[in-house]
Amino acid sequence: MHRDDFNILKSGIIYFDNGATTLKPKLLGEAISDYYDNYSSNAHRGDYALSIKASQKYEETRCLVKDLINAKKCKEIAFTSGTTDSINKIVFGYFANVLREGDEVLLTMSEHASNLLPWFELADKLKLKIKYIELDENHEVLLENVERAITDKTKVISIAHISNVVGDVRPIKEINKLAHEKGILVLVDGAQSVPHLKIDVQELDIDFLTFSAHKMCGPTGVGVLYGKEELLNDIKPIIFGGGMNADFNHDGDKIYKTMPDRLEAGTPNVAGVIGFGYIIKYLMDIGFDNIHRYELELKDYLVKRLKEIKEVTIYNGHSKSGIVTINYDGIFPQDLSIYLDKYNICTRAGNHCAKILKEEIHIKNTCRISLYFYNNKAEIDKLIDVLKNPNIMEEII
Ligand code: ALA
Repeated sequence: MHRDDFNILKSGIIYFDNGATTLKPKLLGEAISDYYDNYSSNAHRGDYALSIKASQKYEETRCLVKDLINAKKCKEIAFTSGTTDSINKIVFGYFANVLREGDEVLLTMSEHASNLLPWFELADKLKLKIKYIELDENHEVLLENVERAITDKTKVISIAHISNVVGDVRPIKEINKLAHEKGILVLVDGAQSVPHLKIDVQELDIDFLTFSAHKMCGPTGVGVLYGKEELLNDIKPIIFGGGMNADFNHDGDKIYKTMPDRLEAGTPNVAGVIGFGYIIKYLMDIGFDNIHRYELELKDYLVKRLKEIKEVTIYNGHSKSGIVTINYDGIFPQDLSIYLDKYNICTRAGNHCAKILKEEIHIKNTCRISLYFYNNKAEIDKLIDVLKNPNIMEEII
C-alpha cells in the first residue's frame, strides 16, 4: 500500500524494522521544509505573522492527535520528545507524588526498558514493590493473570498495549475495567500500537497513553503524553524553564501555566510537531482499520512461509500484530541480521530493549521482522528465498 510515497523503497531496500522506527513519506520532508523555508519561527512566543502561523500549525497538530486517539479535549495532549520522555514525565511527575512506601506497581517481563527503568528508579526512591504479571505459554498477557497479580496494595499497572518483541495485543479495555473497579490507575505504552490500530482512549477508558511519532511515519523527537484531564492537571512538571511558567519573582515565587503548556518547557520541536500533523492526516486517510487488517494478512503470510524453513523457530506466531520474532538454528541473531542486510533486507537483532524477557523465555537474542502497511508479499517472498539459500552458512561465516 502507498509504496510510491516512500523514496527509500525505490532503492530496492526491504524495510522490516518498523518496530524500531518507520520510513517517512515524502510529504513529511516537504512539510518540515515548508516550515523551515517559509515560516520558521518560534511557537507561542511571537506577536508577528510568522510566529502566529507556526503556533497555529503546532496547536492544529495537538487537536489532530486528539482526533487520532479520540481524546475529549485538545488540552489532554502534551508533546514530548518520545515515548520514553512521556513515561518518565508520568512516573516522576504524577506517580512520584501519589505513591507511598509499600505500594505495588504491576509490570510485565516483556516490557521495554522505557517502561521498566523509570519504575525501578521510583521504586528505589519510594520503597515501592515491583511485581510482574505472569505471561502464558505464548508469553502473552491474559486478563486472568492480571487479576491474579493484583493485591490490595496494587496502585498502578504500567503495560505496553503491544509488546515490541512478542507482539501480543494486550486486552487493555478489560485491564482498565478491572483496574478501575479496584481504584488502580493504568499507564498504557502505546509505542507499538498507536501506529497500527485504531485507538479510542474514551472507549478503552485509558488513564495515561504514551507514543512516538517516529514509529508512525512521523519525525524523530516528537512524542505524545495523553492523560485524562483530571489526571493531567495533577502532573507536576519535572522540567522547568521558559514557556511553562506564567510568572515568577526574585524570591522564587512562581506560577506555572495550566496543562498542557506546563509540561512543554523550552522551545519545542516546532518543525517536528507540525510535520507530525501532516502525517496524522495521511494515516487517517489510509485508515487504521485498513492498516491493521493488511498487516495481519501480511503477518499470516510471513508466518506461513517461515514455517517452510525447518531451521527457523518462530517465537510469536500467535500474536495479532505485525511483529514476528525468530531465530535460525546455528546462526547468531546479529549474524543473521547482517547476512540479510547483504540482500538489502533490514531487520533488528538483539534483545530489542526488553532486557528481562530473557529470564522468561530463556533466549537472550532474536531477530525481529516488524511490518508496516508499505510492506508486501513480494518482499516476504524475497526474505524467504534468502533464508532458504543453500549457501547461507558459508555466506555467514
Ligand atoms: N523501541 C524500539 C524497538 O523496539 C527501538 O526496536
